[in-house]
Amino acid sequence: MKPENRIMSKNTVVIGAQWGDEGKGKIVDLLTESADIIVRFQGGNNAGHTLVVGKQKLILHLIPSGILHEGKKCLIGNGVVLDPQVFCAEVDKLREFSIAAGPERLKISRKTQVIMPYHKQLDSLREEQKSGPEKIGTTGRGIGPAYEDKAARIGIRAVDLSDPDLMLRKIEQGLLEKNVLFEKYYQVKPLAPKEVWERIEPYAQKLTPYLTDVSSELEQGAAKGELILFEGAQGTHLDIDHGTYPFVTSSNTVAGNASAGSGCGPILAREVMAVVKAYTTRVGSGPFPTELLDETGVYLQEKGSEFGATTGRKRRCGWLDLALLKESVRLNAPNEIALTKLDVLSGLPEIKVCMAYRHEGRELAHPPQKENGLSAVEPIYQSLPGWAEDVAGVRSWEGLPRAARDYILLIEDVLKTRVAIVSVGPDRSQTLFR
Ligand code: GDP
Ligand code: IMO
Ligand code: MG
Repeated sequence: MKPENRIMSKNTVVIGAQWGDEGKGKIVDLLTESADIIVRFQGGNNAGHTLVVGKQKLILHLIPSGILHEGKKCLIGNGVVLDPQVFCAEVDKLREFSIAAGPERLKISRKTQVIMPYHKQLDSLREEQKSGPEKIGTTGRGIGPAYEDKAARIGIRAVDLSDPDLMLRKIEQGLLEKNVLFEKYYQVKPLAPKEVWERIEPYAQKLTPYLTDVSSELEQGAAKGELILFEGAQGTHLDIDHGTYPFVTSSNTVAGNASAGSGCGPILAREVMAVVKAYTTRVGSGPFPTELLDETGVYLQEKGSEFGATTGRKRRCGWLDLALLKESVRLNAPNEIALTKLDVLSGLPEIKVCMAYRHEGRELAHPPQKENGLSAVEPIYQSLPGWAEDVAGVRSWEGLPRAARDYILLIEDVLKTRVAIVSVGPDRSQTLFR
């Protein structure tokens, strides 16, 4: 493809700017047309990225969203936590859709950490044991415990999977403390290392041909002038450091992690695209200042089909929060914004946008940094006129109702970032490029 025809012309990191489910899958799928390599750099199968092409809908949890494009290389970086069983199931599902997902174009870093059965068990037991406001509402996929083992230096890496003796030793080590927890604290049966290995072994064998040096793949690709797309999962405010701690996931979701999580220098990624949903949603617990617990919230949930793509839970819905997004801009420094789900706002007589927060008698332009500070703020809203027209068929800026254009211009003005893509429906074709 000629450079001038590309919708992405430099290596780009795509991240979610809110609490996940902004529509990253759709945007990555679109940009993949111009990319050569797509790499995931964090998270695991807690993600649910939806791709819609014509009548076909596919939800990917682990494999990069670029996989639908024939011939593009898809990489899973070292920063990801990978469940071998889920990986194999996803490859099989792609085959059902006649999509080639073999080791010639789909590759896993040897350094990727593996999610083990005991991670999933611990994740679920912890959530069950927590009561009410303490519950994080994790996806139960073992994400947190897998990252804990990585930091504790007892994690299992994908490269270990082809060495049964090493695996058995590492599983024994991994279970040493966890079995005490299982038996004495959670009062469930301890796990036998050998049985754990026997459960994993069939997947381990299938996975081995996919292993590679992702860092070297990126280096070689870049040397040939290939374009790289870094696919983020979750959202900025689920980031382990910068999100609404402790109601966060266990990895860095911000753009800065694209290089560490894939094994390249920070300047290989030249641009950042922040995906922003035209309103706000959140799955799981945690503060959400603009949440709507009234009929407008129900309207957004129903019209936007806001159900978690991984757990099927209803997503909490609320107005767009520009104070939260100003923080996302500060944390990711995006060059451009892709604004999604604008079509869902059609039909609302009035649209509100949070411009700042009131907190302990003061006005704040950004979220407070105290733990759970965001649960104590009151949003300061600006009210805008809505629009009645259905915009799902609109394909040009001029074709949008005046009120919708003003809404986008306000976002650009406050965030000092250009809205380069506007999405008006789940399908690839329902997109405006500005
Ligand atoms: P991700 O996790 O960021 O990839 O987002 P999800 O796939 O979990 O959730 C986004 C949902 O919105 C999916 O069901 C998409 O098919 C859908 N979607 C994406 N863009 C649009 C849009 O512009 N309008 C509408 N109505 N749906 C969209
Ligand atoms: P995508 O990539 C929305 C949320 C969970 C929970 C918290 C911690 O589709 O945007 P975890 O299982 O990660 O330990 O759960 O994070 N969460 C997501 N919410 N979209 C996601 O991914 C999410 N991945 C995790 O609901 O509140
Ligand atoms: Mg999702």
